[in-house]
Amino acid sequence: MPTFKSPRGTRDLLPPETATWTRLERLAADLAIRYGYRRIETPMFESADVFERGVGEITDIVEKELFRLAPRTEESGAWALRPEPTAGIVRAYIQHGMQTWPQPVRLTETGPMFRYDRPQAGRYRQFWQWDIEAIGDAGPAIDAEIVELGMRFYRDAGLVGVEVLLNSIGDPACRPAYVEELTDYYRGHLDGLPELERVRLERNVLRLLDSKDPAMAALNAAAPKITDRLCEACAGHFAEVRAHLDALGVPYRLEPGLVRGLDYYTRTAFEFYVTGREGQQQAIGGGGRYDGLVELLGGRPTPGIGFGIGLDRLILALAETGVEPVPEAGTVAVVVGADPGDTAGRLRVATELRAAGIAARADLGQRKLGKQLEAAARDHAHFAVILGDELAAGEVGLRDLPAGTQKLVAVADLAREIERAHGAHRHGAGAGAGPD
Ligand code: HAM
Repeated sequence: MPTFKSPRGTRDLLPPETATWTRLERLAADLAIRYGYRRIETPMFESADVFERGVGEITDIVEKELFRLAPRTEESGAWALRPEPTAGIVRAYIQHGMQTWPQPVRLTETGPMFRYDRPQAGRYRQFWQWDIEAIGDAGPAIDAEIVELGMRFYRDAGLVGVEVLLNSIGDPACRPAYVEELTDYYRGHLDGLPELERVRLERNVLRLLDSKDPAMAALNAAAPKITDRLCEACAGHFAEVRAHLDALGVPYRLEPGLVRGLDYYTRTAFEFYVTGREGQQQAIGGGGRYDGLVELLGGRPTPGIGFGIGLDRLILALAETGVEPVPEAGTVAVVVGADPGDTAGRLRVATELRAAGIAARADLGQRKLGKQLEAAARDHAHFAVILGDELAAGEVGLRDLPAGTQKLVAVADLAREIERAHGAHRHGAGAGAGPD
């Protein structure tokens, strides 16, 4: 047993699995650019107030799961690791006067989030999200655009059978009456409520609807539905969101029980699932509209909408649905030599190849040529560049390892020749060496 292990609920992401991560992060970054979302990086910790006010004090995320940092000095504030990026991004939007930029401000951030949750499959204490936010557009068209972007990401990632569950959870005009009705409903079933839910009933009744307690399932299924109580403006907005999704050909399933686990949501709320895996912990992404959040954190009233896609769960889902992991982009050429002691010569040639953009390494072990070639084959390199006597005449041996052929190439032409032959190999019938 090793002396130290990664903390409970965290994992080391190791090669070759990291190749899949790199591919998804690139895909997310490419899609963000294509849809006009600009990169933002906010700190991994913020004043705890940002999350308490933003996400809401009576939520699982803040009550039970916030990683609070012990203050180190008197002047240090009450900080917490970010459990999600939206509150921090909105804090940044206000702080940097983004209200004066052309609206909406479209932002994207990818990185680790932290929740002190009970670890289990697909639920980690450090996990990664791809986050998208459009701040300053009240919708409804942008709501549909964002849902479509999420669906496109899953599709381009190769995940099939993704479904979006859609709801509207109203606004300050219609929600209070609904909250009152819901409170009355649960009060009428007080005996069936677990202790925690009884406390929440008086403080934040909507949270009962997304309770993870199995004792709540039947009660929640029979609870009054917000969608039947929307005010005219919210109902109209919701109808338009659906009409835009229909126009884009994005299928969705209406789910009137969907309220999301964060307090900042208004109107549109949605979650992504792989069909048939709709358990509490299985959402592979989720988001919605937060028209009150900018004001709540001290800015001018400004609408917003976004989503967070859980990359850990996406990768699990890809593996479970039989999608092949992405092969690592390997070494294309290994520089080997007849003189075991001439590491400087091998290093120089490898350095020149790398400067020309080729993934090359030099064999730096002081061992016989045969051993160097074996190591190159084990690496699945396409070429061995062999330094021998011909080097005096400015030439090296270029061996195509899978093909077993070899020829002499002028050092001056080496990079170009490798580029050409490797490109032909990748795109030809014998492809399969992996994307690089
Ligand atoms: P969320 O639903 O709390 O929303 O998280 C989004 C996604 O992050 C989830 O659907 C899930 O895939 C992943 N996730 C959450 N917790 C864990 C965990 N413990 N382990 C692994 N994956 C997890 C938000 O965070 C909002 N900020 C989304 C948003 C953006 N709404 C508007 N803008």
